[in-house]
Amino acid sequence: MPLDYDLLARQLDALLDTRDALTNMAQTCALIMQEVPDLNWAGFYVQREPQRLSLGPFQGKPACNPIPFDTGVCGAAARHRRTQRIDDVHAIADHIACDPESQAELVVPVVIDDTLWGVLDLDSPIRGRFRVHDQAGLEHVLDVFIRRSDLTVTL
Ligand code: SME
Repeated sequence: MPLDYDLLARQLDALLDTRDALTNMAQTCALIMQEVPDLNWAGFYVQREPQRLSLGPFQGKPACNPIPFDTGVCGAAARHRRTQRIDDVHAIADHIACDPESQAELVVPVVIDDTLWGVLDLDSPIRGRFRVHDQAGLEHVLDVFIRRSDLTVTL
């Protein structure tokens, strides 16, 4: 049965009890890691210097930092401000392999006041793990994080 992302969004809404972005990033990626099957990494990268993503709260193995906007799947999401849903990361020439176990990746950008605030990055050890349903569902879950957090970009 496909995961009930509406339920997950409601769970996140109930979990977030502050508008603090750092706390909410930590809670959001922990809840996603706990509830979404077959993930080996879930976390945030945030734009704290122009055109560069810095590693934020995450669940999983230590990861690559920093990521310039011009490289990798996260960089593509930041540059194009569009979700990147990758079935096979090995088919992406400039994919940044933090963990060789990762096979599929979903990266959702967060844009605040027409500025790229950061991205949510999810990795899976299963090729083709992320379907259209997962993309739409996780974008919906991320909308809750955005609505419930004070997100400012100071570059
Ligand atoms: N694979 C990503 C890098 C981040 S890690 O997956 C945590 C990329 O190509 O941007």
